Amino acid sequence: MSRYPSRVCFIAIFFKECFSICRNSLWFSEILITQNEYPPADLWSEWLLRRRHGGNPNHEQVIRGVIERIRDRVLDGAALSAGMTLVDVGAGDGLIAFGALERIGLSLRVVFTDLSVPLLQHAEKCAIERGVRDCCTFLQGSAERLEGIVDESVDVVTSRAVLAYVANKAAAVGEFYRVLKPGGRISIAEPIFRDEALQIAAHIRYLEAKPACDVTAHVRLMLRCKAAQFPSTTEEAIKNDPLINFSERDLVGLCQSAGFGEIHLELHIDVRKAGALSWDTFIDMSPHPRAPTIREILASHFSDEEQRQYEEGLRPLVESGQRVERDTIAYLTAIKPR
Ligand SMILES: C[S@@+](CC[C@H](N)C(=O)[O-])C[C@H]1O[C@@H](n2cnc3c(N)ncnc32)[C@H](O)[C@@H]1O
Repeated sequence: MSRYPSRVCFIAIFFKECFSICRNSLWFSEILITQNEYPPADLWSEWLLRRRHGGNPNHEQVIRGVIERIRDRVLDGAALSAGMTLVDVGAGDGLIAFGALERIGLSLRVVFTDLSVPLLQHAEKCAIERGVRDCCTFLQGSAERLEGIVDESVDVVTSRAVLAYVANKAAAVGEFYRVLKPGGRISIAEPIFRDEALQIAAHIRYLEAKPACDVTAHVRLMLRCKAAQFPSTTEEAIKNDPLINFSERDLVGLCQSAGFGEIHLELHIDVRKAGALSWDTFIDMSPHPRAPTIREILASHFSDEEQRQYEEGLRPLVESGQRVERDTIAYLTAIKPR
């Protein structure tokens, strides 16, 4: 009698372990992230964990408020429910994936995929701290090849601000389609930078034809700084840069070509006052992972006199919160036909 419960217990543990091995190893060949080794930061982890907010924890909270609204829209579009499997492509520090687990609870299974090992390791550490590690799988690789995820095995694919960095977007969307079960859906949000890049290119061309004066001198400096962060200053270069060579309409076309049906896209353009910021935080920030910070641009591209003029013109706007910010974000959902 006394041995019976321990046998039950042993059998239960045996099946739990088998189930756990199936979950973690057979469906997906997980790249295990070691707990004790910290790989050096890469450009992705540097940006997400520091340069996005200029290393200022207060400003990090402000940015978090903005991106959590984007996350919520992506999760609304994902229509997740208990027991589903979600793949978050380019999961970063887990914004979407942890948000999904908070919504659905521990019956959700979440696969974090990312190019960046330091970010996957960071996300795994967060998963342990949140007590959700058993629901998570971490896979390293490019969105263009979701290696380790078998065909038609997942219910939902999410992705936020990732396709903008992927050279072969058609391959990535094709992979989203491949891994989804029939009836499965994608919910993605992508920043659209193309208009901004084209505008910078047009302004630079316009100013090049004008004689220098005090006003255009300052505008020229602002544009040189912008052109260093969105480095395509000619329309030809814009065509070849994955960050800016696509519009929201191209996203719809990519989904249609991959075979998705019931595609829905909303473009949101928000123009707002940026809010007051210290000059040091402002110049230590960059608008996307591949962009240098303003401090780096000033040091490498501007003479001392140009740096002085640039700061004199912009600093009052930054510190008083009068600077204007503009976000253009495409939200897309699509369903794989049954
Ligand atoms: C702007 S961050 C967004 C992170 C996260 N999705 C979020 O919403 O906070 C871009 C992410 O895409 C990842 N990434 C960049 N290129 C990628 C690629 N080719 N395949 C998969 N992930 C990629 C980066 O490592 C980074 O985590």
